[in-house]
Amino acid sequence: MKRALVFASLSVLTVLLGCGDSGGQKTAPAASGSAKKPAASAAGSAKAASGPKPIDRKNLAVFEQLPKESKSDKNPATPAKVALGRQLYFDTRLSKNHDVSCNTCHNLETYGVDNKPVSEGHGKQKGTRNSPTVYGAALHTVQFWDGRAADVEEQATGPIVNPVEMAADEKRVVETLTSIPEYKKAFEESFPDEKEPVTLVNVGKAIGAFERTLLVSGKWDKYLAGDDAALSQDEKNGLSVFMDSGCTSCHGGAMVGGNMLMKLGAVKPWTDEKDKGKFEVTKDEKDKMFFKVPTLRNVAKTAPYFHDGSVSDLGEAVKKMAFHQNGLEISADEIKAVVAFLGALTVEIPAEMTKAPELPKSTPKTPKPDPAVASAAGEEKKGG
Ligand code: HEC
Ligand code: HEC
Repeated sequence: MKRALVFASLSVLTVLLGCGDSGGQKTAPAASGSAKKPAASAAGSAKAASGPKPIDRKNLAVFEQLPKESKSDKNPATPAKVALGRQLYFDTRLSKNHDVSCNTCHNLETYGVDNKPVSEGHGKQKGTRNSPTVYGAALHTVQFWDGRAADVEEQATGPIVNPVEMAADEKRVVETLTSIPEYKKAFEESFPDEKEPVTLVNVGKAIGAFERTLLVSGKWDKYLAGDDAALSQDEKNGLSVFMDSGCTSCHGGAMVGGNMLMKLGAVKPWTDEKDKGKFEVTKDEKDKMFFKVPTLRNVAKTAPYFHDGSVSDLGEAVKKMAFHQNGLEISADEIKAVVAFLGALTVEIPAEMTKAPELPKSTPKTPKPDPAVASAAGEEKKGG
């Protein structure tokens, strides 16, 4: 009954959207009114009989199914390189104190995140940003909340040398890896044309090649492929609200996000402007509060939300988005529906993908763990 009402008011909303469009960036009018609709209107009961309107598949063109692979011409994958990358991803010896790996903050068993507001790295130091998922990250047009790295290969070298994350440096990384004969051999096999293959850049390439394999599709992809029964009615209702509210003007494509930077507070200013996103990198006024639109795949599993991990409830995140990005006050039922839809973007990750590989043993030449925290560690706190 309630849902039918939601959809009755949504059709009003759709009409409003048509004239409220303000040019290039889609924005919605300030109030949908649906939150304050009287409980029983004539329109509501008429709709109740016919049920929610079916989704027009033409509107699904803003999304794409997950591609089977994510290739890089600059970093062609080989089985040897991917296997090496997997080991490096899990190896805490790339960190100064041998206690932090990529998997510490991007745990493959917990959907590629640490579920903390902001991550903790070397010496339990905290960064200032929430760790995004690594699943599907290779498909994003840029990396990081502010887009400061071009691809996963470039990104991967950052956290290793970041003083609040893994706190190593290239010299230490090269010493560590060359002290372990199995690693030395694996680098030679992965980069056969290079005389000195053990470099930080190649660590990034191997990890990047591994990250490119972290693609898992699910029922959402089946639905996009034409299987209407792949989503439940609740999930489809949520998809309608998602599309009608204008969420797809930013969260679209194969990752349901990940393909642009957008202003946080596009319609109504965001409440916390401490971290100004891309502006922190460029110092250009027009970049203020521009953040990467995150993927919404598996979002039900990757709380807390936003660049600063400030919101832990998905419904609250949806409500804030509708208000600040689209200028809409959506009802509790609409929020519930969107949360059901977002839940349909969760996939089951196969155990062989999350399993920690066996790592080669250290030798007497391997540099020892070093807990010292550099005093100048304030420099690069964002994270990686
Ligand atoms: C101490 C925690 C921590 C460690 C260790 C860490 N990361 Fe991150 N990672 C983060 C945080 C926080 C961000 C977001 C930082 C930002 O956007 O400014 C991030 C961002 C990323 C991104 C960008 C994703 C996106 O959607 O933009 C990728 C990919 C990534 N990390 C992979 C890695 C890899 C590979 C390693 C190991 C070499 C690693 N991370 C180590 C915390 C960590
Ligand atoms: C104008 C672009 C835009 C629109 C429209 C938009 N979003 Fe977002 N969304 C973003 C950006 C940018 C972020 C990242 C914010 C940050 O860095 O804190 C985000 C973050 C999110 C997050 C948090 C994800 C995470 O992993 O932290 C959710 C959930 C979300 N959006 C859902 C929605 C929903 C639902 C709608 C429609 C009601 C919507 N968005 C509309 C740009 C948009």
